[in-house]
Amino acid sequence: MNALKILLLGSGGRESALAWKISQSPLTEKLYIAPGNGGTSNYGENVGISPLDFDAIKAFAEEKGVKMIVVGNEDPLVNGIYDYFAGSDILVVGPSKAGAALEGSKDFAKQFMVRHGIPTARYRSFTPETLEEGLKFLEELEAPYVLKADGLAAGKGVLILPTLDEAKEALKEMLGGMFGASSSTVVIEEFLSGIECSVFVLTDGHDYRVLPVAKDYKRIGEGDTGLNTGGMGAVSPVPFADDAFMAKVRDRIIEPTVKGLAEEGIVYRGFIFLGLINVGGEPMVIEYNVRMGDPETEAVMLRVDSDLVELMQRAASGCLADKELRHDPRTAVTVMMVSGGYPGSYPKGLPISGIEDVTDSIVFHAGTKAGAEGGVVTSGGRVLSVSSYGESIEDALAKSYASIAKIKFDGAYFRRDIGQDLIKLL
Ligand code: AMP
Ligand code: GLY
Repeated sequence: MNALKILLLGSGGRESALAWKISQSPLTEKLYIAPGNGGTSNYGENVGISPLDFDAIKAFAEEKGVKMIVVGNEDPLVNGIYDYFAGSDILVVGPSKAGAALEGSKDFAKQFMVRHGIPTARYRSFTPETLEEGLKFLEELEAPYVLKADGLAAGKGVLILPTLDEAKEALKEMLGGMFGASSSTVVIEEFLSGIECSVFVLTDGHDYRVLPVAKDYKRIGEGDTGLNTGGMGAVSPVPFADDAFMAKVRDRIIEPTVKGLAEEGIVYRGFIFLGLINVGGEPMVIEYNVRMGDPETEAVMLRVDSDLVELMQRAASGCLADKELRHDPRTAVTVMMVSGGYPGSYPKGLPISGIEDVTDSIVFHAGTKAGAEGGVVTSGGRVLSVSSYGESIEDALAKSYASIAKIKFDGAYFRRDIGQDLIKLL
């Protein structure tokens, strides 16, 4: 394969980790990141284009000779970036708009799973016209109650309610426009109890490769308490996702998903993210996403011991067969440093110091930008993702926490209990 120019879309920690990995490949002639952040410029050239401005992306790609676009976040995929470039000589790593509905519509994803016999929670979908039936369906279920806005709601569209009254109230509010058009259809499903993990698959539509499995930590508070966030840390591998569990994941979930997409004529050449829950040893699907996870990618990229650019290029051009994806046997973790106040309101523009003193970890920028007087400043809730290798989860965590101690910005917060639930299981 020949080296090529690549454009990566996005600006978070996930895109920093992808940029880090892409920049290491001998197949990368040049990497652009649009729009990128204060750290992605270490791996390539940031360009000020919105990932949703397809015309501007096309004009830029044609001008620079970009031959592959890697899409970090779901929005451009759900909006049809794959289809926009179909038929051109620019590869897009990701699903077609029809495939992106696996994330863009929870109702579509549930129907797809039912059609292909993929294990998932029992569910029904409701609209404002069927509100009364929805209220009755809630009475058939046991607490807690899981209500999901059908469409994209920036990670906020899932409500888990402890009582029937609260669930009924929430259903009325959601169907009444709580999340705008995203919740004009609501999926109500059975609550599943178990420990979650994230499985990432790269497919060319026929063949697939499984990336290292990770577990993320979503809540702001230690012990998984408090509000949901974009992710506070991640660990890979996940001890309970052993060979026996992963054999079930392949047979019951990955293969029927890839085959099901192909059978339905849905073009999918990119990453599939399976949000799984381990219910007494049996994997079930909580959700599909059509991109890599954040912050899982900030741990998973450390463990991809193959050329990611070649893998993505093969996936996007339909020839993944014969190319292996090796996993680094070491453990990798990432711990997110966030702004004080996040996920509520928080200050921006605070200077960050000490990143250059970190030697035992890899610091991926998430919410940062170049400061007016040099250096970098905070620009988002999740600021930096501090990733480390180790011989064990404890060993890798010790490195990330020691590195975090060297990094300073006013009000910085991080969770000290990343991975502790998995350590207890060992
Ligand atoms: P999502 O926005 O789809 O990632 O859902 C957010 C979180 O809600 C998931 O990561 C789970 O922790 C939880 N969740 C979603 N569906 C269920 C379910 N059926 N049973 C239990 N927890 C769930
Ligand atoms: N870490 C979960 C997500 O990326 O959606």
